[in-house]
Amino acid sequence: MDRINKILNDEEYKSIINNIEYKEKDRIFCLHGLAHALDVARIGYIIILEENLPYERDVFYAAALLHDIGRYSENEEKYGHHFSGAELAEKILVRAEYTEDEIKEICEAISLHKNRTDGGLSEVLFRADKLSRNCFKCASRELCYWNENVKNKELYR
Ligand SMILES: [Fe+2]
Ligand SMILES: [Fe+2]
Repeated sequence: MDRINKILNDEEYKSIINNIEYKEKDRIFCLHGLAHALDVARIGYIIILEENLPYERDVFYAAALLHDIGRYSENEEKYGHHFSGAELAEKILVRAEYTEDEIKEICEAISLHKNRTDGGLSEVLFRADKLSRNCFKCASRELCYWNENVKNKELYR
């Protein structure tokens, strides 16, 4: 948990999260701030435990905490938030003392989280990301761009 707290206390991470939360203060759709990142971390780690998947908590939490940091970033328009986020995540992970191999795995999962992949850390990240959205109680459900058949109409796995 030490390294996860290093991410949470990283000055650049805090400033990116503050910026996302500020930019989304009037947003009526799903948000991408710290509460969302933590929902994804916890839901994904439950999946890992329930399905006995071979991912360490520190590694999955890092991917979840950092997965949307590319939102509103300089390179978002050019590469999309998943790729720009992976780029930004690298330095933060180095400062939080993740190993080179872990950083590679985490950044790859972040860059792939937009679409469902076939296995790997990115698949858990994708599933947890989608499951974190409470469409069943969302006032903006009708206006949301999500396809009707992927909206979470109830709590399920
Ligand atoms: Fe995302
Ligand atoms: Fe997300």
